[in-house]
Amino acid sequence: MDLHDYSDVAENYDLYLDVMYKNEDNHEGFREFYLDFAKKYGQDGVIDIACGTGAVLLYLAEHGIKADGTDLSEAMCDVAAAKARARGFNLNIFPADMTAFRSERKYSCAIIARSGFMHLTTPELQRAALLNIRENLTDGGMLTFNTFDPHPYFQAQQMNTKDTDYSFRLEYVNKQGKRERIYNAINYDPYTQIMSGNWKFETLDDSGNAIGERIRPLKMRQTYRQEMKYLLELTGFEIVNVYGGYHYESGEGSAKNVIWCVRKR
Ligand SMILES: C[S@@+](CC[C@H](N)C(=O)[O-])C[C@H]1O[C@@H](n2cnc3c(N)ncnc32)[C@H](O)[C@@H]1O
Repeated sequence: MDLHDYSDVAENYDLYLDVMYKNEDNHEGFREFYLDFAKKYGQDGVIDIACGTGAVLLYLAEHGIKADGTDLSEAMCDVAAAKARARGFNLNIFPADMTAFRSERKYSCAIIARSGFMHLTTPELQRAALLNIRENLTDGGMLTFNTFDPHPYFQAQQMNTKDTDYSFRLEYVNKQGKRERIYNAINYDPYTQIMSGNWKFETLDDSGNAIGERIRPLKMRQTYRQEMKYLLELTGFEIVNVYGGYHYESGEGSAKNVIWCVRKR
């Protein structure tokens, strides 16, 4: 599987993300941004697409917005649903592919948070997802998602990285109380714009010796802004806002995280 085997990482996802984003959080402020977006546009229903373990879904629920959630990974949906139940929320969370899902209802607001869109690794899949999401939106419904601006410096570095050239990312304590070290190696293909990564999870014993490892592949596609503008036009969306971050930074010039807010035409 090209995608992370999220059934394997689901139970530990929140635990290692907490550590990963402690020092450098490319998504700082994302929950508040999506809450504002849902308040502004979600009068006829909100759906969190690629909801993962529910980082946004549960934050919305805690602030009075009962959104539906969907994710390709059943394991991620299960973790999100268990967290929702534990906090007393009865939410509709269902496994589905964003390129094909059909909900029983339409929504005036759809959110793909924290790079879920970048998991679509071809222009055909991106197009299928946007067309499908459009079908699930009410007339004039709004969608937000983010992409990272492709950066030539990192692309050049990653073009020279093999998928076994591991760099240490972080150490955390997993669900079983065991220390784990995470390493990754990311290779970039400029022709497909795909970043192919291997993530290595190394489990340690109490003395810090490695006692096991799992390698999980992950592919993400980089999309240029001009490409995205045409793709949105092609799939029946108009761009309402483009921000350079979750604090409504200007989307002009160089931005790292590009937040697209688009309306169904
Ligand atoms: C980086 S995680 C983000 C999860 C969540 N939005 C968050 O903010 O924590 C990406 C998620 O996208 C999901 N995903 C990947 N491809 C998908 C697809 N085609 N349809 C639906 N979900 C998908 C993965 O299973 C994973 O949970």
